[in-house]
Amino acid sequence: MNSLDMRDDVRQDRREFEYTQSDFEQVKHLVYQNAGITLQASKTNLVYSRLSKRLRACGLQRFSDYLALLKKDDEERTRAVTALTTNHTSFFREKHHFDHFTAHVWPQLKAKLEAGDRVRIWSAGCSSGEEPYSIAMALAGTDRNLPNWLLKHDFRILASDLAPHVLATAREGMYAMTIAQSIPPNLRNIWMESDGDQMVVHPLLKELIAFRELNLLGNWPMRHQFDVIFCRNVMIYFDDTTKNTLFQNFSKKLLGGGMLYIGHSERLIGKAASDFVSKGQTIYQKRAM
Ligand SMILES: C[S@@+](CC[C@H](N)C(=O)[O-])C[C@H]1O[C@@H](n2cnc3c(N)ncnc32)[C@H](O)[C@@H]1O
Repeated sequence: MNSLDMRDDVRQDRREFEYTQSDFEQVKHLVYQNAGITLQASKTNLVYSRLSKRLRACGLQRFSDYLALLKKDDEERTRAVTALTTNHTSFFREKHHFDHFTAHVWPQLKAKLEAGDRVRIWSAGCSSGEEPYSIAMALAGTDRNLPNWLLKHDFRILASDLAPHVLATAREGMYAMTIAQSIPPNLRNIWMESDGDQMVVHPLLKELIAFRELNLLGNWPMRHQFDVIFCRNVMIYFDDTTKNTLFQNFSKKLLGGGMLYIGHSERLIGKAASDFVSKGQTIYQKRAM
């Protein structure tokens, strides 16, 4: 058995399950192949702790047995991959994006709807829903009638993620008070309702959003192009090859003049970079082609 390192040798004695360097390398390969996520060596112990729960649930003693199971069981493979995703998010994260969207983008999109056109917004890698709900609250502002108006027009926010467990939370739209606290009070008072010690998103706002399971590395079944794409803090875990492909696909899926918002530590790279003009910090507009 290959040990992970001296420290891990010691740990191995205390570990409930047998876990080797080769096991980690195989998990790393599997997560890269299935989700594009690159696991650094520093994630060795995180992989052990996240997947231990699955070994326990499957009644297995060794990671090598679990890896053998993953080769033939598609559902378990999805569970393993999603258990290794990082789902950290918050309402109005990177607030300058929402300020930019409300001031410079939404007025034009609203005018499009008024003219009878379609408007589509995509939150790609939406995690537990804070991002798409922030978009919905940002555009509705304090206008209580806006969701009803939008429902009568050709408007939809698509919110997608690879991980079913976060999508379940997103669909429910129920959050601890401490999480809902980062919503500006004027919006929280209108769009969040108290439910015991939690807060739930207003049903009308929920109706604006379609939550879908979607792997960004797979096929995209959406027929239409988007006016705005938010893909923030998702590509941070991807290598340059994957980022390149993804940026090109986002460019194809955006209308000319459409906006792309990416995470604070990300940057637009590769062939698609020339399709966009910078409109501020991590904000890009697709050139009219
Ligand atoms: C750190 S969260 C970011 C959430 C939100 N966009 C934000 O910025 O707050 C990253 C999300 O990307 C999702 N993700 C990772 N790889 C993915 C892939 N290949 N396809 C779709 N979603 C993916 C994860 O499941 C996770 O929920």
